[in-house]
Amino acid sequence: MGDHVSCVIRNVTLPGGRVADLTLGGGRVLHAGASGRADEVIDAAGLVCIPAAVDMHTHLRGGSQRHKEDWRSGTTSALFGGVTVVVDQPNTVPPLTTPGVFAARVREAEEEAICAFGINGGVVPGADLAGLWRAGALAFGEIFAGPSSYGAAVPPDTLRDAFMVLQHFGALATVHAEDPLPGAPVDLHDHDRLRPALTEAQAVGAVCDLLPRGGRVHFCHMSTAAAVDAACGTVEVTPHHLFLSWERFDRGDTTARVNPPIRTERERKELWSRWGRIDVVASDHAPHTSEEKGVPFSDAPSGIPGVETMLPLLMAEVFSGRITLRSVIEKTSYNPARILRIPKAGFEPGDRADFALYPEETVAIDPDALHTKSRWTPFEGMAAAFPEIVVMGGRCAAEGGEILSCRGRWIPGKGYIP
Ligand code: DOR
Repeated sequence: MGDHVSCVIRNVTLPGGRVADLTLGGGRVLHAGASGRADEVIDAAGLVCIPAAVDMHTHLRGGSQRHKEDWRSGTTSALFGGVTVVVDQPNTVPPLTTPGVFAARVREAEEEAICAFGINGGVVPGADLAGLWRAGALAFGEIFAGPSSYGAAVPPDTLRDAFMVLQHFGALATVHAEDPLPGAPVDLHDHDRLRPALTEAQAVGAVCDLLPRGGRVHFCHMSTAAAVDAACGTVEVTPHHLFLSWERFDRGDTTARVNPPIRTERERKELWSRWGRIDVVASDHAPHTSEEKGVPFSDAPSGIPGVETMLPLLMAEVFSGRITLRSVIEKTSYNPARILRIPKAGFEPGDRADFALYPEETVAIDPDALHTKSRWTPFEGMAAAFPEIVVMGGRCAAEGGEILSCRGRWIPGKGYIP
């Protein structure tokens, strides 16, 4: 005892159905049961309180790409969606492949971020993997086993060698597995044709063949059931592959251009049929400006912003009874924390005291109400439930559309040597 109580959340319905007060202090849950005095009291009556999300796949841009997004705008967007930990991908400009560039990235984030963050190291031929691990890389990747925006494909030999090194560290490799056909797509249908479902699943199999025994691999943003079935490690899917199909858009609509591509309605439904096998839902938040997207399809960058809409879209599915609340908590919070080996948020004493509290009502997604610098979203008009309150580090971080004082905290990887 003796821990300073920073906050009490009253009337929380716990996963087993019991209603309790959560006492928070030192960034942790201290007690679930009856509560005493606190600096701050939040009433969760009428709200659904869940552990806040760890979005393990975001491209926060910044640096020379801060016109697309910066750490402040990207993490504000995260917080308003119920995400309190974001994991940044290394395909920045320049890419995060040396300890010096990595350390500069950490400094930039520490100055600007308003939620917690991890940063992954990059894997390309010649990358200093040992230096990145010591500099605090949380994991490695997304490693481009197929080319994408701001990332050329990594040759199989480089991938095999990197897997060996990372296995030695006990580090996680996260992989973007695709094998596109040559050519520039002219529309969404063509994009799906040039990055086919079949070669995505084959690329997954090829990556598994390169993995040494005991190696840890996580497959990013799998877009088809066949790719999920081919995976030998943990499986991540995105809201855009779960909720969007290209038939829903005008064929030339660049806002839905992303790698791997948005598939057909049939593929989308097939992907949902693997819900039980999916370990993680992550956003692959990849913002670009409207001007950058406003060019002919074949020249438009791939990528969709989504850190703020991820949980709201999933919570709307929970409220309509299509998926369980438990499955959403596992795939957005418990599993990514376990896979990344960071403390989990939750209701037990000692858990990280990060929560998002949702009213049981949905609104239509409005791009003007979002906080990313992208002034557009392909999810426009879809039903979503946004959190009313977000708690981070045992304190109220956002309420009723207002950010209260909060600072981003860096979560270094296990190899970090200060
Ligand atoms: O569409 C994508 N855009 N897929 C990726 O893997 C990278 C991302 C980006 O960084 O823009």
